[in-house]
Amino acid sequence: MGKFQVTFMPDNRVIEVEQGTSLLKAATQAGIFIKSSCGGKGTCGACKVTVISGEAKSERTGNLSPEQLSRGVRLSCHTFVEGDLTVEVPPESRLQAHQVLLENANSALLNETSKDLLASYGYHPLARKVNIRCAEPTLTDNASDWARLSIELKRVLQSDKPLTIPLSVLQTLPETLRQAHWDLSVTLTDCESGYTVIHVEPANDRPCYGLAIDVGTTTVVVYLVNLDSGEIVDKQGSYNKQAQFGDDVISRIVYAVESQESLAEIQRAVVDTVNVLIDEMLKRQSLTGQDIASAVIAGNTTMSQLFLGINPRYIRLEPYIPTVNATPEVLAKEIGLRLLPDALIHTYPSVASYVGGDIVSGALATDMANSDEIILFIDIGTNGEIVLGNKDWLVSCACSAGPCFEGGGILFGMRAMPGAIERVDIDPETLDVKLKVVGQMAPVGICGSGLVDCLAKLRKAGIIDRAGNFQLEHSSQSARIRATEDDKEFVLAWAHQAGGDKDVVISENDVKNLIRAKGAIYAGIRSLLQAVALEIDMIDRIVIGGGFGNYLNVHDSVEIGLLPDLPQEKFEFIGNSSVKGARLALLSQKAWNEASDLARKMTYIELSIGTTFMDEFVSALFLPHTDLSLFPSVE
Ligand code: FES
Repeated sequence: MGKFQVTFMPDNRVIEVEQGTSLLKAATQAGIFIKSSCGGKGTCGACKVTVISGEAKSERTGNLSPEQLSRGVRLSCHTFVEGDLTVEVPPESRLQAHQVLLENANSALLNETSKDLLASYGYHPLARKVNIRCAEPTLTDNASDWARLSIELKRVLQSDKPLTIPLSVLQTLPETLRQAHWDLSVTLTDCESGYTVIHVEPANDRPCYGLAIDVGTTTVVVYLVNLDSGEIVDKQGSYNKQAQFGDDVISRIVYAVESQESLAEIQRAVVDTVNVLIDEMLKRQSLTGQDIASAVIAGNTTMSQLFLGINPRYIRLEPYIPTVNATPEVLAKEIGLRLLPDALIHTYPSVASYVGGDIVSGALATDMANSDEIILFIDIGTNGEIVLGNKDWLVSCACSAGPCFEGGGILFGMRAMPGAIERVDIDPETLDVKLKVVGQMAPVGICGSGLVDCLAKLRKAGIIDRAGNFQLEHSSQSARIRATEDDKEFVLAWAHQAGGDKDVVISENDVKNLIRAKGAIYAGIRSLLQAVALEIDMIDRIVIGGGFGNYLNVHDSVEIGLLPDLPQEKFEFIGNSSVKGARLALLSQKAWNEASDLARKMTYIELSIGTTFMDEFVSALFLPHTDLSLFPSVE
């Protein structure tokens, strides 16, 4: 099979691929992320590109019109390379560099707990580097190289823990010791069970580093951490390259279980995502992979299994069983991470198929398992994962909110990227609209936090009723409210303001989808409370984590019944809780041990059993709720 060059425009990025490679795959290899909501099945139409020149074969054209086809528009997932090609990827087909959560937006309400936590757990990183000087062997002192090294190490480490060395390090040890004239820097992993020598080199004063990695379904974030000082020296985030296999965990599982090759491919995609992020940071910091001695990974259960190449089939099938909760430690070389080959990779334990290591990591970062107070920890994404409890007990659940808050299933929905409406104000008298747009540019769509705002303001202005029905009688008041052929809608931005040829609107159908999504989250919270016979006002603190949560307006979230009606001061934002918990574990063996206990301690409540969740869900399908006594502050 021949190889051909594909040039992607307007980036002008060239990649060489095998004949028959799909354009979707070629683009991913070139570092260009194309939307592929259906996972390449040829049904969503999100992955359109234009073939400008060259030979390509299309097996499926979806709903493309004859006019589009004549212009060279193709579905990239079903168009295959047959010769050198030039392909244009239009902006609407691209996963844009949206706000990968490296920093905290809601800084005013930022949870400071994680900063103090390291001090309370005690500083004891999962790897370290020590400098030693061994005595040279002589005819009268003829101990082996390893005996010589281990005696000196034990003296410096002052510990009774076992000390081991893998064959791969032993194989190069004799030459390294002599080239270094017995003056050495030794990197070791440091676990409860003992030390392992993973690298020996001539003495130097470079610190060793570790990685805290949040493997999300959509994005991956990596912190590079100096293990000597605990300082985060760099951060990098990007899309998960698995996006080419679909937007959500279910489409990833469907792809992964097709064959052994597809499982290997989807694993490579995420490992490659992390490797690219590592390489970028190493380059910036003038370091090499040999400087990185350990990594802690936090991800949902499917992401964790895929990262390790474990077949995720039964996560998706009733009764939804993960292969393992307490994931074993593996070596970097076993999964292809470009760090020290024998560096130990720790993966956060999960609780169940839909409450994963990212939530355990987040819960560790909230310190709820050591708290006297009752804490509700919520991570809102496609799934709303919720943990409730304190130092004596913890319960958790996952409820499917659907993709609304990430912009899916909404006419003008989009992720929080430049052009996304993130705040909405509607004048109740004139129905005029004020918008805040990410990147302060012309609005092209609306993201999750904008949708929450919008729903609250539509109701407040009387444009929709409590069930989300549009009140068309207001159409005499403003041209913004109107009926279309098959729906009703409210214009957020006129086409001329939006810089396009279409008005940016929110439709009644969008509103109903949002009500279902917020209803699912609130029903999950109520179901957990019922499981432990508590009332909402018994919650002392609500900690919100995750990308969407980070931009949420608490007042409007309460107004629509997404979050419980509690005083503002009870709400805290923790930002990317998953990567924070990963860093904590990387720097503290005690914290890492506690993470395992935490996962075991969390009782998982399966919401599909019984009628509680469904009853709560139905009651929550109003704004804010059918039971207004639950929302006393909402007028
Ligand atoms: Fe869905 Fe191509 S049509 S990814």
